[in-house]
Formats: sequence, C-alpha cells, structure tokens
Amino acid sequence: MDKNIVLIGFMGSGKSVVAKRLAAQLKRKVLSTDGLIIKREGKSIAKIFRDSGEDDFRRCEREVIADIAQKENVIIDCGGGAVLDKENLTKLKEKGILFYLDATPEVIYQRIKKQRHRPLLNCPNPMDRIEELLTARRPFYEKADHVINTDGKSAQQACKEIVAIVTEK
Ligand code: S3P
Repeated sequence: MDKNIVLIGFMGSGKSVVAKRLAAQLKRKVLSTDGLIIKREGKSIAKIFRDSGEDDFRRCEREVIADIAQKENVIIDCGGGAVLDKENLTKLKEKGILFYLDATPEVIYQRIKKQRHRPLLNCPNPMDRIEELLTARRPFYEKADHVINTDGKSAQQACKEIVAIVTEK
C-alpha cells in the first residue's frame, strides 16, 4: 500500500494547486475536503457558513475526513482548519504522510487578497486576521510529518520536494 499524501496548512498556502500537480505526476486521485463538502451539501463553503454557521461546517468536515482518511494511495487536500481537530489529525495520520505547506502571512495575503470565497478572511483587516489565525494554528500544522516552505516557490517546486520525499527509501 502507498500511504496517502495529505496536504495541510493555512488558506492560500497552495494546497489545492500542489495537490493537482502531485496527482498528475504520481497518477493518483485528489480528494479535497472542501470539494467533497460542497458536493455533499450542494452549496458553497461561504453559503454553508452563512446558513448554518462554522460549527456545522466543521461537523461536515469531520464526517468527510472520517471517510476519506480510510482510503489508500490518494492525495488529500485539506481545508485550512481541518487539523485543528485532534481526531481529524489522528485519522489522517493513520494512512497518510502529512505535509505542512508553510508560508509567511505576507505571502499568504498576496495570494488571497483578490479572492472572496473564504468566509474567515472576508473581514476589514485580512492581514491582521491572517497573522492572528496563523499564530494560533502553527502548533497544529507543525504536527505534520514534513514541512514544505512555499515562500517564493512555484507549485512545481513544492511538488518536486514532496515527490522526492515520498519516493526516497
Ligand atoms: C478554512 C479554510 C478553507 C475552508 C474554510 C475554512 C480554515 O479551505 O475549509 O473556508 O478554517 O482555514 P482552504 O484552506 O482550502 O482555503
């Protein structure tokens, strides 16, 4: 069995783009937690937050993770808050190697500033919010097996580093 490749990290750290590149290169399927939640609920993440609140979104996220963490040989693209839940982290680690895609708040801000689909960053001072959330979340992200710094790196470079790790032995 090949372990799952699980990408974790803050919004805008490049998880989705890197996941697609890895999938193409390693010929594996990508499962995105957000994508599966959107499909299951039939509405966008922003609408789920608006209609039923973050707690409900987190409940869906836990259910989706409980299901996909059991797969094998896939790439899992996790929403930025997924591993704040201890049980999610434990389940993802059972069959996966976790990669934390790290970036500074400034780089994250540059990547997300024109995007509007993330309810947690739709606020008057997104830069302050990024700094605050990232400080609180870093200890959770650092529970990953490997840290890939993505500052100033293309998705292709980040992907290459991950492939080197999963294929070494
Ligand atoms: C969230 C990150 C988002 C999405 C939701 C909450 C978070 O996913 O799951 O808006 O708590 O960091 P991305 O990290 O893919 O943007």
